[in-house]
Amino acid sequence: MKGKQGIVLGVANKRSIAWAIAQALASQGARLALTYQGERVEDYVRQLAQELQDPLILRCDVTKDAEIEAAMAAVKSEFGHLDFVMHSIAYGDLDPPVVATSREAYLKALEISAYSLVAVTRQAADLMTAGGSIATMTYYGAEKVVPGYNVMGVAKATLEATVRYLAHDMGPRGVRVNAVSAGPLNTLAARSIPGFTKMRSLAAERAPLQRHVEVAEVANTALFLLSDMASGITGEVIYVDCGYHIMGM
Ligand SMILES: NC(=O)c1ccc[n+]([C@@H]2O[C@H](COP(=O)([O-])OP(=O)(O)OC[C@H]3O[C@@H](n4cnc5c(N)ncnc54)[C@H](O)[C@@H]3O)[C@@H](O)[C@H]2O)c1
Repeated sequence: MKGKQGIVLGVANKRSIAWAIAQALASQGARLALTYQGERVEDYVRQLAQELQDPLILRCDVTKDAEIEAAMAAVKSEFGHLDFVMHSIAYGDLDPPVVATSREAYLKALEISAYSLVAVTRQAADLMTAGGSIATMTYYGAEKVVPGYNVMGVAKATLEATVRYLAHDMGPRGVRVNAVSAGPLNTLAARSIPGFTKMRSLAAERAPLQRHVEVAEVANTALFLLSDMASGITGEVIYVDCGYHIMGM
């Protein structure tokens, strides 16, 4: 990744998948811009970023087009162009079952967890003048019912379909768009999933590899997709779940 420049959205703390991905990218020589959602996490992100070589730290709440535009403008003036974008953002109220989810909660989950990839891709596209790679994070609850995952399953299904349509739209510009479907990892976002501990232990019990997935394994796959090693892959969902998704029972 030497000479490559990219933006990683979604670092909140040291457990964030986005942080593991940022570390993997930096370890291979990439220069990074990191974005954070707002003041609540800014200090953590700035502290973590001290480990990186000359990072750019930017605020970007993805519900605000002006913040996405400002972040991309700052990247443009500092980096000139972008080679990759890592989107690792989701939010939803997972307490009610889907049938009891309000219109507002449903739209909010889809806005932050799926539409944001469209908004970010559109803004980043202008900076990806020599082609590039965009990746996002998804979960198996997009395609099968995982009790407790609720409206986030709907949002992830939308996100995965969005990845395919964006891959089609961006392909002529030489920009690839893919998703990594990670097995359960103990992060801030995961703690808001009702029954997460059970979900995680069941996954380790039933997966062919009979263990939990590690965040570094997820990060290495994202690194692969964002690198030229994956130059022929677009519109894909790659599972990093110790094989859990292949099981019928
Ligand atoms: N942890 C898991 O088990 C797991 C498994 C598969 C996929 N994922 C996905 O990985 C991604 C990262 O989650 P994580 O587990 O690292 O948790 P995390 O809480 O560390 O990351 C979620 C990020 O989303 C950001 N975010 C939420 N609303 C935002 C907004 N309006 N604007 C900007 N940023 C916003 C948060 O600030 C945070 O940085 C999510 O898409 C999640 O669904 C997680």
